[in-house]
Amino acid sequence: MTVLVTGGAGYIGSHMTLALKDAGRSVVVLDDLSCGFPWLVPDDVPLVRGDVGDQSLVRDIIRKHEVTAILHFAGSIVVPDSVRDPLFYYRNNTVQSRGLIETAIAEGIRNFIFSSTAAVYGEPERTPITEDMPHQPISPYGTSKLMTEWMLRDAAVAHPDFNYVALRYFNVAGADPQLRSGQSFPRATHLIKIASQAATGERSHIEVYGTDYPTSDGTCIRDYIHVSDLAQAHLCALNYLEAGGQSTAANCGYGYGYSVLEIIDAVKRVSGVDFPVKVAPRRAGDPAILVAGNERVRNLFGFVPKRDDLDQIVGDALAWERRLQVLRTEQDAKTLVPA
Ligand SMILES: NC(=O)c1ccc[n+]([C@@H]2O[C@H](COP(=O)([O-])OP(=O)(O)OC[C@H]3O[C@@H](n4cnc5c(N)ncnc54)[C@H](O)[C@@H]3O)[C@@H](O)[C@H]2O)c1
Repeated sequence: MTVLVTGGAGYIGSHMTLALKDAGRSVVVLDDLSCGFPWLVPDDVPLVRGDVGDQSLVRDIIRKHEVTAILHFAGSIVVPDSVRDPLFYYRNNTVQSRGLIETAIAEGIRNFIFSSTAAVYGEPERTPITEDMPHQPISPYGTSKLMTEWMLRDAAVAHPDFNYVALRYFNVAGADPQLRSGQSFPRATHLIKIASQAATGERSHIEVYGTDYPTSDGTCIRDYIHVSDLAQAHLCALNYLEAGGQSTAANCGYGYGYSVLEIIDAVKRVSGVDFPVKVAPRRAGDPAILVAGNERVRNLFGFVPKRDDLDQIVGDALAWERRLQVLRTEQDAKTLVPA
């Protein structure tokens, strides 16, 4: 009954590994370490370095560890990079996922959870966004994820024993409250991470992209979910599948949002640091408001958020940034940069 966590040395996958261990589950991690860190994987969890598209490697892991479920986090996640190099994103996110899904089905895996994204909706006509709204991604990143959802959908029809849940995350933030993991990638682009880096002095300032959106203060509104709550949503989805639930897709967010300026105010308030903020032009493809309709994840899987509190999310993110500063002085700095 082992769970294979792909991308388990990354930000969300490492929190998932902790949540599974905390729930008493057996875990094995597969990660190519392109953006991940071995030290984010608990010492007693086997870490296999390799690519999710390496079908003989994945087959060996499934057999050796008696894997019965796969949670697939591995992938490339930077939207502007996907615009610059779409074919890399289609290979790493779509083609390699195809190989993983094929191996999973060949090895008799029945339960599969996929990290999808709100980017599959593109620029929605209204919010909150529900799962049945049009899927019109505006970046190769979003398309690479939607194509994987389509492969899962079609494969599940052709192979009735294979069931999946695609979880479409909105903005993931925060860190493990026990500080066992957190967002550690130096070039991460998440707003709360960047603002926390400004508060801890890792950055000189932060930029706000556009102050003329049709929102209360003119800046974009996003739905921020605590990474530990997101891991709990996966546990609920896994329980659902293991109890015989049907394949589906579900949004992961709290159902309400905060503007960029509200987030910056929260980081300043919680940290007590008044860092510089510069206004920059809008970025292409940034919708004004992205908020999750979350009835499905709550009602179908029984997910109940426990950390939907902005000050806690920000406090945990700030605590992790400070922890990284200590780690930088304690450890060989090279271990804090991906291989
Ligand atoms: N962070 C967010 O806000 C967010 C939002 C929506 C969706 N997602 C999705 O969640 C998943 C995890 O995101 P994250 O923020 O933890 O990113 P991350 O970069 O921290 O983690 C991804 C991990 O996957 C590994 N990896 C990449 N390609 C691989 C491959 N081909 N084979 C094996 N390992 C590979 C990396 O080394 C890394 O450890 C991604 O699939 C991402 O698209 C993230």
